[in-house]
Amino acid sequence: MSRIAYVNGRYQDMRDASVNIEDRGYQFADGVYEVCEVRGGKLVDMPRHLARLQRSLGELRIAEPMPLAALSVVMHEVVRRNRVRFGIVYLQISRGVARRDHGFPAAGVKPSVVVTARSIDPAKGAANAARGIKVITVPENRWPRVDIKSTALLPNVLAKQAAREAGAYEAWYVDSDGFVTEGSSSNAWIVTEEGRVVTRPDKSGILSGITRSVLKEALEALQIRLEERPFTPQEAAGAAEAFVTAASMIVMPVVAIDGHAIGSGKPGPVALRLREQFHRFTTFS
Ligand code: PDD
Repeated sequence: MSRIAYVNGRYQDMRDASVNIEDRGYQFADGVYEVCEVRGGKLVDMPRHLARLQRSLGELRIAEPMPLAALSVVMHEVVRRNRVRFGIVYLQISRGVARRDHGFPAAGVKPSVVVTARSIDPAKGAANAARGIKVITVPENRWPRVDIKSTALLPNVLAKQAAREAGAYEAWYVDSDGFVTEGSSSNAWIVTEEGRVVTRPDKSGILSGITRSVLKEALEALQIRLEERPFTPQEAAGAAEAFVTAASMIVMPVVAIDGHAIGSGKPGPVALRLREQFHRFTTFS
């Protein structure tokens, strides 16, 4: 079956779908995006993703191309047309098409909107979670506004590639004070010997993950203690467990950091429980 994308008002076969070469998303990475999990054909936590999208657009002064409710309709339609039951839907909005010039284009240039969706075999995620993933650490080299979900992801691309070349799945950034900020495409967590879950506050250095925010509520409901504070790679190496969260990975156990086994070197019980319980706390639409 051919895949269908939504591009600026039209649902098109992916093979024919294209954007203008003077799109600012292409030329300057001048845009924002969201990735939403699809589960049983439903979109997970859409209201929170749309709220974060609205915030990202506002921070970059990119106009809302259509009402959020209409964007939601388009995202559902792309999922439906591609018959995605389990997978992700991707939404990207750029500042639009204009002759190349760093400053903003004239008022009235319409932002570009692209939505795609693809299936991901849930068995693959389950197999990864059963094995656990390895992470490496890399120096933080991103701009300070990582709270904005911008498509400018070159440092993240390089960090992910470094992880792959080191035989790992994810890279954790370490800031100039020696603390982990987050992964190249996920938030970072550890579990202490006392069973407390630790993650960096979202005041600085991280994207405020939707999975992270839902998991915080899950922890409270499950009466698992949370410490929102920075941690170092050394603390992670000596922790009982570690895991990452993202819409594309849910809760994914981490079993090694920079070649050192974490805990038993196997996915930990807290991470596995949180992965199993996670969707009790999400919305579906
Ligand atoms: N990434 N931090 C970064 C840098 C991310 O790119 C992501 C998600 C997260 C987790 O956010 P959320 O829980 O809302 O997915 C944290 C998406 C999945 C991506 O770029 O593919």
